Amino acid sequence: MATQNTHITLNEHLLIGEGRNRKCYLHPKDLNLCIKVSSKRGLRSAKREINYFKRLHKRGKSFAMIADYMGEIQTSEGRGDLYQLIRDHDGSISKNLEYYLSLQNASITATMIMLIDNLRKYLIEEYILISDLDLDNILVQKDVFGNFKLLVIDGIGDNNQIPLLEYIKPLGMKRSARKWSFFKTLVAKDFPDVAKEMKEF
Ligand SMILES: Nc1ncnc2c1ncn2[C@@H]1O[C@H](COP(=O)(O)OP(=O)(O)O)[C@@H](O)[C@H]1O
Ligand SMILES: [Mg+2]
Repeated sequence: MATQNTHITLNEHLLIGEGRNRKCYLHPKDLNLCIKVSSKRGLRSAKREINYFKRLHKRGKSFAMIADYMGEIQTSEGRGDLYQLIRDHDGSISKNLEYYLSLQNASITATMIMLIDNLRKYLIEEYILISDLDLDNILVQKDVFGNFKLLVIDGIGDNNQIPLLEYIKPLGMKRSARKWSFFKTLVAKDFPDVAKEMKEF
C-alpha cells in the first residue's frame, strides 16, 4: 500500500455512487480500484476508517468480506482514498443487498440470508468492528458460476475517535452486537422475513 503521487483528474462521468459523506469514482487508470472523496463533513469519519483499516492490515486480518483500503491519491477533487472496486465476473459493478432482496426471489433470498449469517460469523471470528452496516453498504459479487459473495464497502470500524474498543474485546463485541441488532432493525423495515432469520451477534 503506497501513496501514489500521480494526480488524477476526476469528473462526473467517473462517478459511480454517492453516500452521505463520500463520492465514489472509478479510477480512470485501474479497473479494480475506486476513489472515494469525502465531503468536508465526512473527513473525520473517513480518516477514522482509514486508520482502522491500517490497523487491520497490521494485525493481519482477513479481508475476505470487506473491500480493502489501498492507499491514498491526490485528485482534482482533493485527497482521495483508494479502495478495491467490487465487480461481478462480467465486469459490471456489483449490486447491493437491497437490490437482491428486492427481487423477492425465494432462492436468492435464502442465499442472501445464508451469506448475511456468514458475514456475522466472519466479523466475530476476525473481530472486526462495525459502525453503520446497511443494505446499501454491502455489495453482492456474482462470479462466473452464479455464486454470490458479500463485501462490505462502508461502515467498518467503530465510530468512536478513540480506538479503545479494539483493545478491550468484551466491550467491542458488545458494541458490535448492538450495531448488528440495529442493522437487523434496518433490514426489518423493508424485509421483515429476512430480519427474522438473522441471528444475534
Ligand atoms: N468498493 C466499492 N465498489 C463498488 N462501489 C462502491 C464501492 N464503495 C462505494 N461504492 C458506491 O459508492 C456509494 C457511496 O460510497 P460509500 O463508501 O458508501 O459512501 P458514504 O460513506 O458516503 O456512505 C456506495 O453506496 C456504492 O454505490
Ligand atoms: Mg455508504
